[in-house]
Amino acid sequence: MPQLPITGFCIALAVFLGPSLAAGDESASFDTVGAQYERDVQPLLKQFCLECHSTEQKEGELDLERFGSIAQVRGDLEAWRKVIEMLEEGEMPPEDEPQLSDIQRQRLIRWTRAFVEAEIRTSAGDPGHVVLRRLSNAEYNRGAQLARCRFGLRT
Ligand code: HEC
Repeated sequence: MPQLPITGFCIALAVFLGPSLAAGDESASFDTVGAQYERDVQPLLKQFCLECHSTEQKEGELDLERFGSIAQVRGDLEAWRKVIEMLEEGEMPPEDEPQLSDIQRQRLIRWTRAFVEAEIRTSAGDPGHVVLRRLSNAEYNRGAQLARCRFGLRT
């Protein structure tokens, strides 16, 4: 039966991805992510990023000030993927500018990853969703594998 190996794979994948991606309640996860955005993330952006990435300044064509709410955040996943990249590579803020502490940097990266993963999880239930096409290959593959497991999709 072709069913069995797929089931085994899905169990392995679920274990591998851990509770963050295996959990299912979409609106609850965006409530949490949204609350964290306002409480933990916005103040850090304000302190370390908006000097250059405000609606007026927009260095690198990036306006982080326009993300006033989680709904607005969700409108531009690509921008947040770039934020993860820049933070992980230590490229932002530029080196002659005030830097985040390790804890602050980790908090910002962790939140942004949680948000992107929540978005992937949501779009996994809707394979035609435009968001999937804008993800990196690694993220896309994870989302697509998960979609196949949870919804038995064939590709
Ligand atoms: C002193 C000004 C300054 C500060 C502060 C700053 N940036 Fe930047 N940022 C720039 C400039 C200039 C560029 C475009 C040139 C480049 O990529 O180096 C840029 C580019 C970026 C890009 C790439 C945009 C794209 O589409 O390619 C991201 C993402 C980014 N910054 C995120 C951040 C984040 C997050 C912070 C705060 C933690 C931050 N920046 C703080 C000046 C700044």
